[in-house]
Amino acid sequence: MPAPVRKAVIPAAGLGTRFLPFSKAVPKEMLPVVDRPVIQYVIEEAVDAGIEDILVITSRHKKVMEDHFDRHPELESALEAKGKNAEAATVRDLSSMADIHFVRQGEALGLGHAIGMAANHVGDEPFVVLLGDDIMRGPVLKGMVDLYAKHESSVVALMEVPQEDISSYGCAAADAIEGADNAVKVTELVEKPAVEDAPSNLAVMGRYLFTPTIFEEIAKTQPGVGGEIQITDAMAALMGREDMLGFTFTEGRYDTGKKIDYLRAMVDLSLQRDDLGPEFREILAETVRREGIV
Ligand code: UTP
Repeated sequence: MPAPVRKAVIPAAGLGTRFLPFSKAVPKEMLPVVDRPVIQYVIEEAVDAGIEDILVITSRHKKVMEDHFDRHPELESALEAKGKNAEAATVRDLSSMADIHFVRQGEALGLGHAIGMAANHVGDEPFVVLLGDDIMRGPVLKGMVDLYAKHESSVVALMEVPQEDISSYGCAAADAIEGADNAVKVTELVEKPAVEDAPSNLAVMGRYLFTPTIFEEIAKTQPGVGGEIQITDAMAALMGREDMLGFTFTEGRYDTGKKIDYLRAMVDLSLQRDDLGPEFREILAETVRREGIV
């Protein structure tokens, strides 16, 4: 029986340079999508996939993330005194969604380095990584955990992108696995390749499941593309020792650290809300007519 996947690591210590000036004083992981910060969606996704213990990699400029998942007794009492019990429960429940821990990355040395900060906390068990600025709708993480239960291998989420965009991502070459719809065997991984050198248009997308061996490879990884310690390089080294699978999917991912994708997330997720969707749909339809979009 493979060990159960109980722990998640959420790197959220990056500088957020693509979202300046907003991200100067407020973490981009705290951007609201309707009424919840992005990182709350990420934590809810982990909990829905059966994760019980979450370690957020944070930094000294991002304390507000810890406050969001802490108790706020004065606010809870004030809401209850006014009979706003549902709102009080919403505030209180944030602190009991899972066992949430925080560790600081002293310097933003790259995603690989951020994940390496979790080595002592995770110990000798498999774990998932969810990027703190990536919202994922749909059963991707759950599918990855199921794949691990079957194969006991590390798994990475993969989505096809237009070939000309591949140089913005980690890129995977992969072989099909017979009889498996969403699973492939990864044969090569390269971080942000030039379009003409890319081995495929399969891009790595913000969700990973690792065996603990990854920590040995991160410890050996030297700075790569952009001078950062890249998780892709540590994964490529891991592939010399263990199998790496890919879980392929086609939709539902929003890189909210990128302005245009943040706007897409706001529109799509607002439309899905029962309380706001119908009215917002009418407003959007009116905007589309007024702007002559279709
Ligand atoms: P990104 O590359 O999207 O974040 O990393 P960034 O470096 O903040 O982005 P830009 O390019 O400057 O806008 C994906 C996730 O990994 C975290 C980020 O906070 C984000 O959630 N990260 C990145 C770290 O925790 N530490 C790092 O050193 C780098």
